[in-house]
Amino acid sequence: MEIKFECNETSVHFEQCLQQMQHIHEQLIQGTGSGNEYLGWMDLPANSSEIISDINQTAAALQRRCDVFVVIGIGGSYLGAKAVIEALSNHFNQIREDRQSPLIIYAGNNLSEDYIADLLHVLDKKDYCLAVISKSGTTTEPAIAFRILREHIQAKYGQEAKERIIAITDKSKGALKSLADSLGYKTFIVPDNVGGRFSVLTPVGLLPIAVAGFDISKLMNGALAMRDQLLRACNDNPAWQYAAMRNALLQNGKAIEMLVSYEPRLTCFSEWWKQLFGESEGKDGKGIFPVSAIYTTDLHSLGQYVQEGVRHLFETVIHVESSASSVAIPYDNDDKDGLNYLCNKSISTINHKAEEGTRLAHINGDVPQITITIDAINEETIGGLIYFFEFSCALSGYLLGVNPFNQPGVEAYKQNMFHLLGRNLI
Ligand code: PA5
Repeated sequence: MEIKFECNETSVHFEQCLQQMQHIHEQLIQGTGSGNEYLGWMDLPANSSEIISDINQTAAALQRRCDVFVVIGIGGSYLGAKAVIEALSNHFNQIREDRQSPLIIYAGNNLSEDYIADLLHVLDKKDYCLAVISKSGTTTEPAIAFRILREHIQAKYGQEAKERIIAITDKSKGALKSLADSLGYKTFIVPDNVGGRFSVLTPVGLLPIAVAGFDISKLMNGALAMRDQLLRACNDNPAWQYAAMRNALLQNGKAIEMLVSYEPRLTCFSEWWKQLFGESEGKDGKGIFPVSAIYTTDLHSLGQYVQEGVRHLFETVIHVESSASSVAIPYDNDDKDGLNYLCNKSISTINHKAEEGTRLAHINGDVPQITITIDAINEETIGGLIYFFEFSCALSGYLLGVNPFNQPGVEAYKQNMFHLLGRNLI
């Protein structure tokens, strides 16, 4: 697959940023930049065949055992899986009677008591398995959810419970690793050199995606094809252009990037993207603030601000060329709603016109428009898009002058919370 990059703006800043790309690209490829101990994500699509077959076998066994699969994790330990699963699933999967694979649900990504109570109530009546995912193996939210669900699953299935639990964590460190070893769970490893938000193409993302019934080989092939495209050092590399343009726009005072899609199935993909860029770039008093919207839905809530509010925004639109299905506007004899002028037009045609109209309006309103085009939403294109954003994020972070692979700021709330809860700090 190919990604097409376009932007309505060009500026001196863009040319200057693009000129730095050769050096930054080399830093990334040769591993000489900051955070270079976390570059393992770059080669995942090229070295995945063994792990894919283990994951597919495990996923097939889990699919036979359960109707519901609970993914326990927070941040990079669940967002990638959720992004891909929602992008590829039927919009109404939750109530679909002909669903072929387990329904994937999530836990350990918040501390809401009502959420966990509702979950337990649902799981009382469902046949379920679970994956507990934490690279560090020490994160509080998933640890609490896992303690509660472990008790539930053991009470429900007895000895068989351990066949229903998969742990995905570090190869040797952390409480989850010791727990998994002592209780005999099947375990997958999160490689040392892959950080949480870059881990969707490791078992962290691949196992839940495979359990949900999607072809992880195709996902990896899409990422691999994108990797081949992006490893080329040249000015028309779309990752160079995207990284250079967003930094140029920042220098022009556009400090907020809104990732926009006209496909609601990409809602969680935007959540994954927000974590990727927000955690990678937001440090040392720098960074573009990542936000997202689904249009046309949010044109009826945020549209007014985007068109006429403070001019500190630019938009990156994921343009999807074709939809998987076709639904046309029917003819109506009375035409009381006045829609016969759209008769026989597909919804996609109308959606694309809305996109074109919005783009023109926002350009007029001084909201620069970056467009990333994919031909359709499927395993290959989503795999490609994941790799495209990861690679661009690394380049963009280096261009900005930060280490894109650490997240020191995430500790601040935890320290306060532990102190308030009376935990002894090390
Ligand atoms: O990108 C990151 O490293 C973080 O967002 C982590 O994914 C998140 O904090 C969860 O950490 P862990 O997988 O160690 O539980």
